[in-house]
Amino acid sequence: MTARLIPVDPFDIVVFGATGDLAQRKLIPALFHRDEQGQIPAEARIIGTSRREMSDDEFRKFATTALELFVEEKLRTPEMMQKFLARFTYIAAEASKEDGWSKLDEALAQNQDRIRVFYLAVGPDLFGPICERLGNHKLVTPNSRVVVEKPLGKSGESAQALNDAIGKVFAEPMIYRIDHYLGKETVQNLMALRFANSLFEPLWTAAHIDHVQITVAETLGVESRAGYYDTSGALRDMVQNHILQLLCLVAMEPPSSMDADAVRDEKLKVLKSLKTLTTDQLETSVVRGQYRAGSTEAGAVKGYLEELGNPESKTETFVAIKIEIASWRWSQVPFYLRTGKRLAQRESEIMVEFKPVPINVFAKSASNLQPNRLVIRLQPDEGVKLWLSVKEPGPGGMRLKNVPLDMSFAEAFSTRQPEAYERLLMDVVRGNPTLFMRRDEVAAAWKYIDPILDHWKDTTDVPKPYTSGTWGPTSAIALIERDGRTWYEGPDA
Ligand code: BG6
Repeated sequence: MTARLIPVDPFDIVVFGATGDLAQRKLIPALFHRDEQGQIPAEARIIGTSRREMSDDEFRKFATTALELFVEEKLRTPEMMQKFLARFTYIAAEASKEDGWSKLDEALAQNQDRIRVFYLAVGPDLFGPICERLGNHKLVTPNSRVVVEKPLGKSGESAQALNDAIGKVFAEPMIYRIDHYLGKETVQNLMALRFANSLFEPLWTAAHIDHVQITVAETLGVESRAGYYDTSGALRDMVQNHILQLLCLVAMEPPSSMDADAVRDEKLKVLKSLKTLTTDQLETSVVRGQYRAGSTEAGAVKGYLEELGNPESKTETFVAIKIEIASWRWSQVPFYLRTGKRLAQRESEIMVEFKPVPINVFAKSASNLQPNRLVIRLQPDEGVKLWLSVKEPGPGGMRLKNVPLDMSFAEAFSTRQPEAYERLLMDVVRGNPTLFMRRDEVAAAWKYIDPILDHWKDTTDVPKPYTSGTWGPTSAIALIERDGRTWYEGPDA
């Protein structure tokens, strides 16, 4: 099966921070894949900029290495490499000084009407200075958009300051706040599952759903990102954005259409309905942890503090939270979220557990009846599983077994699953902000997160240690078991 391509108009993309990790791992490979698929028009240009002095050829070498590392060899034919690399130019420019900007003016001057994408793959402290210069140099045309990466602030207050600085130069519809989780195929499939099938909607309420779990588990540690990570921590890095966005997609009301604002209005309502944690709940409904040395699939690994080289750090590498939503649909249905680094497996999934049957009419010996569970697996092995109770085949009475109706996307569609950035970058060019966070969503998410951060600042408690390669601190297990529930663990659960 071949993917349907929606061609985009010619564009210039200017990547600030073009020699950084994000450009190398995600942006350059994503643009290559779209080009290889024939979606990028011949005239489109990729203009890299950063402080470092570099020639066009050196930048092309950097891009070649990125492709060698992150794109399958069979796609990198000499013709394709040549066509793709010919789009690249490089301009050394200082974000907060005038140096180099006149060259950017020149490079863009020839295409005043063309779509312009300014991608800020730089730290948030540079968002304001870069936007200001783009404004001063009159580089922001009506056909321009700016893309900003998280973290968008470290609190509601700093997010507001950043949004104000960007907003001075770009109108809100031109601002694309990227949350790459929204570009993941399975995340979009969650919307298809809910709003293109009539099966689930009548059951998608507190009357039928017992609880929801969202797990985003990584086996990697912080490694070379320790410097950034230590100023962030799992709550800001993963929960404030990715995981709350996933929660919104599970919990939102059906939108009136797939228009950007129709979808984002519904997500905003969810964020505004999150019940602020009380002082007691800040202790009991939130668990933070920090990994210690241990072993993972990759062998023995160091603890976070050793990786960071600072034995004093209180930064959390794991968080679990029990969230409640004050709405008619979700009253009394807890959402348990957890995320962490150096956990037992790389696994991101959403599990919706339905209520048990009201009366078990089967004999006890027929086995213990399990509730139905719908599992939406984001990675790896994207797919959807619906666990049902069925009769075990054969004579010998009625024995029940819990087995999944299992749909693997890789098997159902024999195409490569595109990376989130491929879809999102083309959406930016097309001017479709549906899968990007609107300013009010970011503010509402911070409003929920800020009290947790404030509480941590004020308490003498430290994150609970957990051994690398496990599922996090034992108090995270206690968090859900106190309610008589357990974490859903993996494909054989
Ligand atoms: C990023 C976080 O946003 O998402 C990283 O900053 C995290 O810390 C990453 O590792 C996870 O993304 P993915 O797509 O690998 O699940």
